[in-house]
Amino acid sequence: MTLYHQDEMLALHQGDASDVLRTLEAGSVGAVVTSPPYFGLRDYGMAGQLGQEATVAEYVARLVSTFAEVRRVLADDGVVWLNLGDGYTSKSGPRRQGTTGLPPKNLIGVPWKVAFALQADGWWLRNAIVWTKPNAMPYSGTDRLSNVYEHVFFLAKSDRYAFNLDAVREPYTGDRTPSRRARKPGPKKANSITSAWPPPGHEDRGHNPGDVWAMPTQPFKGAHFAPMPLRLAARCVAASFTSDCGAHTTSADAGRGAPGCGAHSTVLDPFCGSGTSLVASLAAGRRAIGVDLNPEYLSVALARCRDGK
Ligand SMILES: C[S@@+](CC[C@H](N)C(=O)[O-])C[C@H]1O[C@@H](n2cnc3c(N)ncnc32)[C@H](O)[C@@H]1O
Repeated sequence: MTLYHQDEMLALHQGDASDVLRTLEAGSVGAVVTSPPYFGLRDYGMAGQLGQEATVAEYVARLVSTFAEVRRVLADDGVVWLNLGDGYTSKSGPRRQGTTGLPPKNLIGVPWKVAFALQADGWWLRNAIVWTKPNAMPYSGTDRLSNVYEHVFFLAKSDRYAFNLDAVREPYTGDRTPSRRARKPGPKKANSITSAWPPPGHEDRGHNPGDVWAMPTQPFKGAHFAPMPLRLAARCVAASFTSDCGAHTTSADAGRGAPGCGAHSTVLDPFCGSGTSLVASLAAGRRAIGVDLNPEYLSVALARCRDGK
């Protein structure tokens, strides 16, 4: 476990997520945006890596115990955005029958197993966002549909937490004309649309983006896995803080005095890989802390944070 890099806005730690989190101050982070290794998918080639456990139950238990450390480090009103993908059992390999208790060709349901286990451990599950990937690889077989989405669970440490809906509203896409029923004379049903939408005066507020997010994956040279889209991380960061601490903020402001941009204005990614969530945090004027087992990924993350993309 080593401190790989530190400056006023960014800290990068090399080591196991749980080990590093134990060294961080309690309540020092406002939000966590992360995508841990999926169960039995990629071998990141590092001793102690998550995702290569002998059973899915062990994988879930290890994530829950890492998240107990996340909860300690998180401010009481802090939030977590947890991206997880699923997978099928296979005849051999890390998802063979013995790892799940299911015969081959079964969708395991890993994200929901993790979400339920986190709930049982005291987390508030506030949304199960479906991240659909318009450019997802099509399934080459003919016996089922292609998988084109992953989950992003939005979790809170308590029932009172910071959430900035206004920061993630989407523009209205034009007027909805009143329905035929609404235009007909006579009494209207309660749910008839009788006026243009949005109502006058609300045109520029935008609407709630909802819990289905369509965002293409962005291939990234230099990494052997698909990083999270920057847009996805940016939306999570923006929704996590109630005070504006935008890119216009100088690093000195963000680190110290600006209202709401102090100690809690920090985003943590305990499995930061190429650092997408860190780049999004810095772009929003938030401090960022990244952890990864693999120093090569930390060097990619540092370069990206310096480039700002
Ligand atoms: C899915 S990738 C994260 C990708 C990242 N969101 C991005 O945009 O590049 C998961 C990362 O977790 C790291 N990792 C695996 N086991 C770990 C552990 N026990 N502690 C910390 N990092 C770990 C891997 O090296 C890998 O970089």
